[in-house]
Amino acid sequence: MDYPAIRPRRLRRTPSLRRLVAETSVRPSQLVLPLFVREDATEPTPIMSMPGVVQHTRDSLKKVVNEALQAGLGGVMLFGIPTTKDALGSGGVDPHGVLNLAITDVVAEVGDELTVMSDLCLDEFTDHGHCGVLDPDGNVDNDRTLEIYGQMALAQAAAGVDLVGPSGMMDGQVAAIRQALDTEEHTGVGILAYSAKYASAFYGPFREAVDSALQGDRRTYQQDGGNGLEGVREARLDVAEGADIVMVKPALAYLDVVRAVRQAVDVPVAAYNVSGEYSMVEAAAANGWIDRDAAIIETLTSIRRAGADIVLTYWALEAARLLSR
Ligand code: PBG
Repeated sequence: MDYPAIRPRRLRRTPSLRRLVAETSVRPSQLVLPLFVREDATEPTPIMSMPGVVQHTRDSLKKVVNEALQAGLGGVMLFGIPTTKDALGSGGVDPHGVLNLAITDVVAEVGDELTVMSDLCLDEFTDHGHCGVLDPDGNVDNDRTLEIYGQMALAQAAAGVDLVGPSGMMDGQVAAIRQALDTEEHTGVGILAYSAKYASAFYGPFREAVDSALQGDRRTYQQDGGNGLEGVREARLDVAEGADIVMVKPALAYLDVVRAVRQAVDVPVAAYNVSGEYSMVEAAAANGWIDRDAAIIETLTSIRRAGADIVLTYWALEAARLLSR
C-alpha cells in the first residue's frame, strides 16, 4: 500500500492549526449595517419579510447607532421612509426630509467614531417608486435625475454624512455628484458607488422595508443578471468618475462579479448582502432547517473570500457578536 505523501488534513487537525492557516477574515470593522428610519414612526415597526429588522424612529435610530459603535462596526448605511411622496422625490432634497434629519441625528450621536453613509436615490421619495424622475412618456429621465442627485448630495453633505451611496444606476451619477459636492466645498465627502447593481428578485423584502410604491421593474437602469463584463465596465467607469469605493449588489448571486471587480479596480470594493439573501436564511432557520449562526458566518466569509473588502449586511451587529465569542 502506498501512503499519501501529501496530507492537507495535517493543517486541519486542531482548532489552533485551522486558525493559523485561515485565509479569510471577517471583522466587525469590515461590516456595514443598513438602517431604515421612518418619518411618522412613534415606535420601531417590525418588517414582516425581514424578521429581526425594523423601521426605526429617530430615537431608536440613535440607540442602534450607539450599539453599532460599541460593536466596532465599519459603519451604517441610512435609508429614509418619508410620509409623503411626490413625482420629483422632493423629500430627498429637503433639509428637513426624514433622511437628512436622520443623518444629522446620527452624526450628532457618533461623530467621527462611526462612518455614516446614506442612500442617495429617489425611489423611497417618489410616488411612482422609480429611482429617477420621469419624462412625459413615463421613462426615467437620466439627466434631469442627475441634477436632483446633485442637490440631494448637497443636502446629505450639509447634514454631515461621511459617504453618500448613489444607488440609482443613472449614467454619469458619480461624476455629477462629485461635481456638485466639490463646487460647494464638500471635497471631504466621499462616494460609495453602487456600481454593478443588478435588477434582482432578491430585493423583494426591501420593497416592504421602504414601503416602495414601485409598479413594474427597474430593468431600464439596473443591469441584467447575466452580464458580468458589463458589471466590471460600470465599476471602472465609476472609478474614472471619482468613486472612492465601488459596490456590487446583490452579493451572493454575483460573487464572480465581486471577484472580477476586485481584480479590475484599485479602490476598496464593497458587496451588499441584500434583503432577500438575509430573509432566505432567516426563514430556513425559523423552520429549523439550517443552523442560523453558522450560515451567517459562512455567508459573510464567502463574500469576503470572493474579494469584497467591505460587506453591507443586516447581520452586522449579530455577526460582530458571533465573531467575539
Ligand atoms: C434603491 C435600493 C434598493 C436596495 C438598496 N437601495 C432597492 C432597489 O434597487 O430596488 C435594496 C437593498 C436590499 O434589498 O437589501 N434605493
